[in-house]
Amino acid sequence: MEAVYKYYDTIDSTNLEAKRLAHAGAKNFTVVSAGEQTAGRGRSGHSWISPEGVSVATSMLIYPEGIAMDHLPRLTILAGVSVAEAVEELYDLATQIKWPNDVLIGGKKICGILTELEADKGVAENVVVGIGVNVHHRKDDFAPEIRDMATSLDLELGGARASRKAVVEAIWRHFLSHYQAFVRDGGQLGDILPVYNSRLINKNKRVRVIHQIKDFCGVALEMDPEGKLLIRRDDGTVTAVDSGEVHVRGLYGYV
Ligand code: BTN
Repeated sequence: MEAVYKYYDTIDSTNLEAKRLAHAGAKNFTVVSAGEQTAGRGRSGHSWISPEGVSVATSMLIYPEGIAMDHLPRLTILAGVSVAEAVEELYDLATQIKWPNDVLIGGKKICGILTELEADKGVAENVVVGIGVNVHHRKDDFAPEIRDMATSLDLELGGARASRKAVVEAIWRHFLSHYQAFVRDGGQLGDILPVYNSRLINKNKRVRVIHQIKDFCGVALEMDPEGKLLIRRDDGTVTAVDSGEVHVRGLYGYV
């Protein structure tokens, strides 16, 4: 398994470009990175701002090998752990993960991940795992409404300058090593689950589970092998919640 790297100074969205490349027959594990995105995409239909030269915007195209379609969203979990590992390896900064896949430093978001899947008649044709990392941002580069919840590698390094190229390469190296095990295990999270849970910032915290029909509160326990977050409700019962259906918000701030 080897990544093939492509770099663009400016692109609408690296996820969109990876999909276009898939339609043009690009190789498995093609990585598209950009210095600037003009139409970056975030989760839940939000946009994702990647201003020129300050972030990492990178996406990997994957043709999934014999993994059941409902296990493929778990690739986002692999990506989150890979970002955490890459940042720790390169810069010795401690990272946490907010379920399902925000990577944080000191409780502030450093990275977002958007996994998109294209299927035909119930069969997955390609998956694009897109990762945005805040690298050179100063505090005022973040919009006022997210300024207290977001950070960048440079801000955390307090003066030293991180390398976007090194970050991209380390992330995908870790990811491919996890992906190999994931394919071997037929789409199970396997050994990555305890690694993920050891970084889970929601663990033992009181959270509000925001659901379309009815919100509820409880204590987050850990992520289960299917990628669901286990919540102990106030009546003592445990409910597994799915990231496709709910958002989890800390009762005291972002986490
Ligand atoms: C989130 O909302 O937290 C997910 C943000 C994902 C952003 C990345 S940047 C690279 C890739 N290309 C996109 O358009 N989005 C993802």
